[in-house]
Amino acid sequence: MKKLSSSDADLRTAGQALKDGLLAAFPTETVYGLGGDGFNKSALARIFKAKKRPRFDPLIIHIAEIDALDRVANRGALPRSLREKVALLSETLWPGPLTIVLPKRPEVPDLATSGLNTVAVRLPSHPVARKLIAYSTGAIAAPSANPFGYLSPTRAEHVEELLGDEIDFIVDAGPADIGVESTVLDLTQEPVRLLRPGGTPRERIEELIGKVGKTETETEEADALRSPGMLKSHYAPKTPLVLLTRDEMLRQSASGKEADVYLFFDEETREESGVVDGFALSKSGDCAEAAANLFDVLHRIDRLSAGFIYAQRAPKSGLGAAINDRLSRASIRGTDQQEAR
Ligand code: TXA
Ligand code: MG
Repeated sequence: MKKLSSSDADLRTAGQALKDGLLAAFPTETVYGLGGDGFNKSALARIFKAKKRPRFDPLIIHIAEIDALDRVANRGALPRSLREKVALLSETLWPGPLTIVLPKRPEVPDLATSGLNTVAVRLPSHPVARKLIAYSTGAIAAPSANPFGYLSPTRAEHVEELLGDEIDFIVDAGPADIGVESTVLDLTQEPVRLLRPGGTPRERIEELIGKVGKTETETEEADALRSPGMLKSHYAPKTPLVLLTRDEMLRQSASGKEADVYLFFDEETREESGVVDGFALSKSGDCAEAAANLFDVLHRIDRLSAGFIYAQRAPKSGLGAAINDRLSRASIRGTDQQEAR
């Protein structure tokens, strides 16, 4: 693995490497991605192998220009009402942390889409990502650059540590701004559905196209504690994580064990708890700040080999939904939680 900077010369090197079928990790505004040419079957196969990702979990194709959308997706197959929604969303929210699922073009290899007749497409806003994609074939498959199921990477160092041996290049441009992955929206049928809450808040999407269906963790968040195994484990640290409300957090920390680590949402709650070595995702209780810190703090906590991580829920609106989704999927559930407490 070779590290590259975000200089123009280095991005040309990485872009050529992608054209040649090699793998290059690169920064986006959400998290670091593990890129390979979206039309190159052997590059796609290597992505799945590097991440140990099951072949049934499809990849997002990243483009640098809105015009490239029609190289991978077939908008024409949609009814007019959905075509209008695609136009509105892509013109307003791209470039940015929104992935849209559309009917796919037959030219996109089945490997990229796990044999589905749909394709997920995203136009990132990070200037380094866009330049790199433009210097490559213009259609780059890029899952988050982490081993399947583990915490996502928001820094080049996370990628190096976790996947350094599996990939050819890492472009380092510092920490990712948003810190949680893009919002994934299924636009192939009505009603439009949110498949993954992420960097673009649901509220922003609904302002443009009206109500969209909620995701599993948004609707069943409260039940998740009572129904073990209902949600797929994902984005998970090695240390078992228990998700708590603010009140539960204060109670738990009052009677806690020394081996445990406390991850507060905001500094005010940490102060109130009196846990001096606790972590806080945000100083002022701001969801954007908390999201930007989320994975980096979890990576750091996971190196401490603590007994349990007790994590406080974020507020439900805006980026809080994405934070709660990731924490909920990272957590142990149901009976395991009872035993932990
Ligand atoms: O912010 C992001 O989206 C990051 C950066 C690197 O762009 N990428 C990312 O990719 O998070 P990944 O592979 O970790 O997550 C892609 C998600 C998965 O949940 C996958 O199941 C879903 O998108 N997805 C991909 N193609 C799909 C399709 N055709 N239909 C439904 N879901 C799809
Ligand atoms: Mg991922």
